[in-house]
Parts: sequence; C-alpha cells; structure tokens
Amino acid sequence: MTNADGSAIDPYLAQAQADARAALDRAQAAAEAAQAALAEATRRAAEASAAAQSAAAQTVAAPEQPAAPVASGPLSEAAVEAVRAGYDFAGEALQMGALVNGEAIADVQVRIPLGMITRHGLVAGATGTGKTKTLQGLAEQLSAAGVPVFAADIKGDLSGIATAGASGDKLAERTRGIGQDWTSTAFPTEYFTLGGVGTGVPIRATITSFGPLLLSKVLGLNETQESSLGLVFHYADSQGLPLIDLSDLRSVLSYLQSDEGKGELKELGGLSPATVGVILRELITFADQGADVFFGEPEIDTAEFLRLASDGRGIVSLLEVPGVQDKPALFSTFLMWLLADLMNDLPEAGDLDKPKLVFFFDEAHLLFSGASKDFLAAITQTVRLIRSKGVGIFFVTQIPKDVPGDVLAQLGSRVQHQLRAHTPDDAKALRQTVQTYPVSEYDLGEVLQSLAIGEAIVTVMNEKGAPTPVAWTRMRAPQGSMDPTPMADIEATVQASPLLARYGVAVDPDSAKEMLARRLDAASAAAAQAEAAEAAAKESAKSEKERLAAQKKIDAEYDRLARQSQPRRTTRTSSSRRASKTPIEQVLGSPVAKTILTEVMRGIFGNARRR
Ligand SMILES: Nc1ncnc2c1ncn2[C@@H]1O[C@H](COP(=O)(O)OP(=O)(O)OP(=O)(O)O)[C@@H](O)[C@H]1O
Ligand SMILES: [Mg+2]
Repeated sequence: MTNADGSAIDPYLAQAQADARAALDRAQAAAEAAQAALAEATRRAAEASAAAQSAAAQTVAAPEQPAAPVASGPLSEAAVEAVRAGYDFAGEALQMGALVNGEAIADVQVRIPLGMITRHGLVAGATGTGKTKTLQGLAEQLSAAGVPVFAADIKGDLSGIATAGASGDKLAERTRGIGQDWTSTAFPTEYFTLGGVGTGVPIRATITSFGPLLLSKVLGLNETQESSLGLVFHYADSQGLPLIDLSDLRSVLSYLQSDEGKGELKELGGLSPATVGVILRELITFADQGADVFFGEPEIDTAEFLRLASDGRGIVSLLEVPGVQDKPALFSTFLMWLLADLMNDLPEAGDLDKPKLVFFFDEAHLLFSGASKDFLAAITQTVRLIRSKGVGIFFVTQIPKDVPGDVLAQLGSRVQHQLRAHTPDDAKALRQTVQTYPVSEYDLGEVLQSLAIGEAIVTVMNEKGAPTPVAWTRMRAPQGSMDPTPMADIEATVQASPLLARYGVAVDPDSAKEMLARRLDAASAAAAQAEAAEAAAKESAKSEKERLAAQKKIDAEYDRLARQSQPRRTTRTSSSRRASKTPIEQVLGSPVAKTILTEVMRGIFGNARRR
C-alpha cells in the first residue's frame, strides 16, 4: 500500500493507525447498532399498533366491503400501507421495483435512498433467480444519477449494460405491471481485464502495493507463511528494494536464501529458511500459471473508476474476468485490493447525498472461502471504513451465509432472491437467512422458496438508518440489454478508451530484481578480487620462503668456498670429472645455481624484495 503521494507507508505506523481506526470504528459501530436497535424497536411498535388498528377497522368494516385485492397476498392491507410509507423517501432514491402481494401493486414502490448506498448491501439467491439483473438495474440507475460503478463481470453477462435493451411484449407487460417507465438505454461503459488477459484495459498491481496479506491469499499460504511474507516485505522496504512484479519478490526470496543474504535472513528473525523456500516454490508455481502479467507497472490508478461521462452519467467500469475464471482466488483478491487501494487514496467524505462510487462484488463467496483470520479482519475493516470515503459495496452471492457474520452485519440493504431448500444443508441455510430479517407478516421460510425469477425479498436502510419493512418485490427490468454486448463492440470501446495509452503496455522498471542482481554482481566481483589477493599473498609467502632457503644455501656455499680457499690439507680424488673443476666453477656452472645467484645477487645488492 502507498500513501496518497505514492510513498510507501511504514508498516508499523500503518498498523498502529489501522488499530486506532479499528478501535474508533468499533465504538462507532456499537453506537450505530444501538441506534439501529432503538429505531427498529420504535418501528416495530408503530407497525404493531398500525396492524392492531387496521385489524380493528377490518373487523368493523368487513360486512360492507368486498375483499380488497391485496388480501390475495400474504400481507394485510395495513402492512401494505406500512411498506408504502416505509419506502417513501424525501431525497433521491433508486427504484428497485413494486411490491408484490399476490400480484404486483404498481403504486407501492420499493426503493433505496441514494445516500444509504454507502451502508452497503447484499444481493443473494439461487442460480438463475435474477441476481445479475438486479445488479444491472442498480448499476444503471446509479450511472444515471451520476454515480460511477465498478463491477466484476464474472460471466460476461453484465456487459449488456453498454447496449440498449431490446423491447418486447413480455417485457412491456412486466414493466407496465410494476409501474416502470421503461426506455431502452445504453450506459457509458469501460472494460477492464486483469493483466490484459481478455479484452479490456489491463489492470495491474505492483507487488509492493498488493502487500503480503493479499498475496498470501492468492498463493494459498498458511498463517505462518503469511506472517513470514510480511517480514520479507518489511525487509524489502527497509532495504529500498521496490517490489514491482513477481520476479522482484522472487529475487528477494532467492537472495535471502543465498550465501550473500543468509546473514540478513538471520537478522530478520522469525523467518525460517524453510519457510522462505516454501514461499519461493509457491511463487514459482504461481508465475508458471501465467500470473506474472497481473503484477507490475503501470499500476492502475483506482481514481480511474471514479470518472463521469461527458453527459454527467457515472461510468460503469466492468472487470471482464472470463479469462481468469480458473483463478477465482486471484480475481476476488484483486477486487479486494482495488477496494483497499481506494480506501487508502480517497479522503474522508462523511455522509454524502450520493456515493462517489459503488462497487459490486459478484461471486463474493470466492473472496471469503479459505480466507485467513487476518485477511477476514482486513476485509471487515475495509467494508466498515470505506463507507466514510463515500464508497458503497454490494456483495452478490448465492447464499447469505457465504458472507461472514461480521461483514453481513454491516450490509444495510438486502435483496434476497429465491432460495431453494432441496438438501438439509439448503434448509439450514434458509432458516439462517430467515433469522437475519426483521419481523414481518411473511412466513419467510415459505415466501423465499416461492419467489418468481426477478422477484426478491427486500429490506433496506431508510434515511434515518433504520431498516425498512420487509417487502416482496418484483424487480425492475434493466434498460440495457439482458444479453451480453457483442465482442466486436467491446473491442471497439476498448480501442477507443483514453486509458489504453496509459495502461496498455507493461513496463519493467529498475526494481528489486535488477538491484539485487547488481548487488550480487558486485559481491561476486569483490569475492573474485579477494580470492586473487589471497592467491597473490600465498604466492608471495612461498617465494619469500624460497628466497630465504636459497639465501641460506648460498651463505653456506660461500662459507664452504671460504673454507676451501684455505690451504688444502688433503689430496682430492681426481677420478670424477666434476672434481676437475674448482668448486666455485662447479657451483657457478650449474644452471640452477645461476638463477639462484642472480636472484641472491639482487638481494645482495640491497634490493631485498624479489618483486
Ligand atoms: N429484473 C428482471 N427483469 C426481467 N427479467 C429478469 C429479471 N431478473 C431476471 N430476469 C430473467 O432471469 C434470467 C436470469 O437472471 P440472472 O442472470 O440475473 O440470474 P442470476 O441469479 O444472476 O444467475 P446466476 O447465479 O446463474 O448468475 C435473466 O436472463 C432474465 O431473463
Ligand atoms: Mg449472475
């Protein structure tokens, strides 16, 4: 992670700040929970008294009045009125659809206040029940309201938002029934892809900014390895080694394993060479799967997702991920990184009339499954804090229990599509889901299974921050296409994108890999020099020894010759040829002696050193 000015945050300082923020936030959350509980209690009391009044009224009026059409549904008339009143907001709101009570009641509209979108939400439901269309409908209205949207288009079926929708009789009937003034509309869309795999502007992250926690998640590291990776990042930071891409991290790990880096590894403490080895192997496997392209520069500036089109509508940024469907951990982690980066970069905004950005997290179960404790804590904290930066998050998943309780508790709006209860596990999930809703006249266990496609059980946060009445809602139809946008159109949009010039081509700057290579080169050059110096010293010692030995020999020879130059006292055998020469002649004549003498002579003439 980096500061707004791009400099690296001191991890310890950042941690301390994060802890302080978390503590503050917990206090805030507790206060809010208390407020919400109070509001809910007040609302329930009001509902109960309204229900009692209407029951009394009905008892009296029953004989004269025919059964109201609303009675065909599960809600009493009073409850229908409570829904009408509960969703009648003063400020701007997104239209979700109309209440269904037996049939759709076009004049009882279900909405979310725009200002409450930053209280986050959940869209859940079994496969094929309308989650993505709900998401599309919300995204379209946000864009129309001038709010940029970011969404992961996991199956490619959200891209239809960029193409005007096709009208038809069935659609017309549906929209008329729910009071939707439907006009076929295309919305300003920008396509992104991870690392340029597929068609879109490439999104890349540098390893430094990705950080050890998210990287551990994608590498599937356990908690020990995760904290070790944290130390490795700390080491790289403290050494001024920029970790831009996977090869940089790989170089740092290899260096710490090498003879040159062993000492530094030891100094780091708490980091075992075996763990470094495991992380390195995981990293190599990861890179071999083609993950290199996701990391590096130019890193996406998450501010790109906050743009408006020239007509003032919010740009819908779609992360097209069909190319990386086999790497669910990767794209879900990337989404989390984008959020975390946004949180770092955006200033505190307080409660805004409308959000700065809404982030849709489709297939959210992928993010949470197998997440470490620290990772979960980081998500929870991000979700909690990002609200005050003006960002709303909607998680989209099949079963609400895919989302951990701590996160779920922070999702103010709920759109629950049909749930199935085919297996005992399904039934349990259904019961758990029912328990998370405010009390209502619905038998939710029953209703949740009988919702039609494109219908949902909705409750949102009203403008006062209290939950709205639970409402069986027929959702509005998207105005963009329900089918994916044709590939040729997507390609044309990408080619025309102003972002392509900035992010289209990867660059490989001078970073840890290059720096460590130079460090190792310098180290091996120094080692070679040291070796040469040592060899020279050895050689010099050897020569000195030889010189001394020769000197000794010569001295002895001189002594002997000196002694011989005295009058001879004995006869010498003349049988040997050598004996015919004088000893000095013999010595001087020998080639070995010649060399020794020359050298010794040098020594004798005052130049003691041979070289
Ligand atoms: N609000 C809606 N208005 C009109 N038709 C809808 C609506 N919602 C869903 N549908 C219809 O239901 C189909 C399936 O919806 P959708 O793709 O949103 O389901 P899903 O829950 O996202 O499924 P999956 O889990 O497979 O992703 C759509 O193609 C569309 O025909
Ligand atoms: Mg879907």
